[in-house]
Amino acid sequence: MGLIFAGQKAEHYEIATYGGLVQLAKTMNRDDVAQLLSETLKEEKMADEKLTQIAEQTANRQASMEPSEK
Ligand SMILES: [Fe+2]
Repeated sequence: MGLIFAGQKAEHYEIATYGGLVQLAKTMNRDDVAQLLSETLKEEKMADEKLTQIAEQTANRQASMEPSEK
């Protein structure tokens, strides 16, 4: 789980960075650059969602392996 969380931290950092760069490109009237950066931003968001799915699956698997408290 720690590795997944570390991966998500990196993705969140990238999402914030690319989001800012998209806005900067738009401000500079560089829609061509903004379009490319938006594609990368979308990829980073998809990676974050994938890591969330993996975290949920891992947590559920670990919970199912825990002995019951009875
Ligand atoms: Fe990434």
